[in-house]
Amino acid sequence: MLEQLSRLGDAAGEEIAAAKDAAQLEEVRVRYLGKRGLVTGVLRGLGTVDPVRRPVVGEAANRLKLELEAKLATRRGELQEGRPRPRAAFDVTLPGWVVTRGGAHPLRRIQEEIEGIFLGMGFTVAEGPEIESEYYNFEALNMPAGHPARDMQDSFYFGDGWVLRTQTSPVQIRSMEETCPRLPVKIIAPGRVYRRDQADATHSPIFHQVEGLLVDEGISLANLKGVLGLFAREMFGEGTRIRLRPSFFPFTEPSAEVDVSCAICAGRGCRTCKGTGWLEILGAGMVHPRVLAAGGYDPERVSGFAFGMGIERIAMLKLGVDDLRVFFQNDLRFLEQF
Ligand code: DAH
Repeated sequence: MLEQLSRLGDAAGEEIAAAKDAAQLEEVRVRYLGKRGLVTGVLRGLGTVDPVRRPVVGEAANRLKLELEAKLATRRGELQEGRPRPRAAFDVTLPGWVVTRGGAHPLRRIQEEIEGIFLGMGFTVAEGPEIESEYYNFEALNMPAGHPARDMQDSFYFGDGWVLRTQTSPVQIRSMEETCPRLPVKIIAPGRVYRRDQADATHSPIFHQVEGLLVDEGISLANLKGVLGLFAREMFGEGTRIRLRPSFFPFTEPSAEVDVSCAICAGRGCRTCKGTGWLEILGAGMVHPRVLAAGGYDPERVSGFAFGMGIERIAMLKLGVDDLRVFFQNDLRFLEQF
């Protein structure tokens, strides 16, 4: 009897493993465990077995029945899934991961806003190196060695005629050289600049500027005023006015400092504008003939305007920040506000 059970077990196991679908599996189940199945038959016939051996045979038959039921269930699962089912991939009751999101630095955002306004007016974005030659940084911009204007832009010299650029203006020369003899030259040049300054609320040895240059036939101060007026309205709001005050830069003639009407008091006078109603935001002027010539253009035939603004200054005005140093401290409590 026991031997018979063991052979039944082997045969059933093979048939279960070989079943190709649920229907075949069900046939196997019925053949062994159904009402008239082979294993069931053994259990039914227990009454005819010698009473001494009955418990042993009965137990073996029951164990086989349970084993076969387990094998059937496993095979049924495999056939359903195509492959063994993986365990739960993660514990849904655990607290989730916080995904920390980075963001653009406020100076970068202001720079991109400025770029967007000038791109809209047909300017392209140009770049120049931060390690610049004294020729591009000073000489070509009509600031020869010994020129007193160099004093205000003392910088970090490498020797051999190289310097950390003190302004984005050298990109004017580089852009003209690249474009010449075609017209127009119509670029803005944002970037980092360096000066030998002690850091305080309004100074930093590293800061950022955006240069602008438009060279073409027949460019006048009216074009400069129009472009900067549009820029000021887009940057600081529809009602913003600008004014030009005479000034001096070696690379422009005439030169001007450009103010915008104070957005905080609408020009009536407040603490931010020191009661004047105006805020200085940039320097500008008509490109000096020597600068045009250094760029390869004939000053008798073409003219141009240029301007340069400090990004920190614009950012402080736009964001209501009164100390420039916070832009460089990378304190998240500050940065996360924007
Ligand atoms: N480069 C000047 C500075 O750093 C700013 C400037 C003034 C740029 C007048 C210009 C300009 O292009 O026309 O102080």
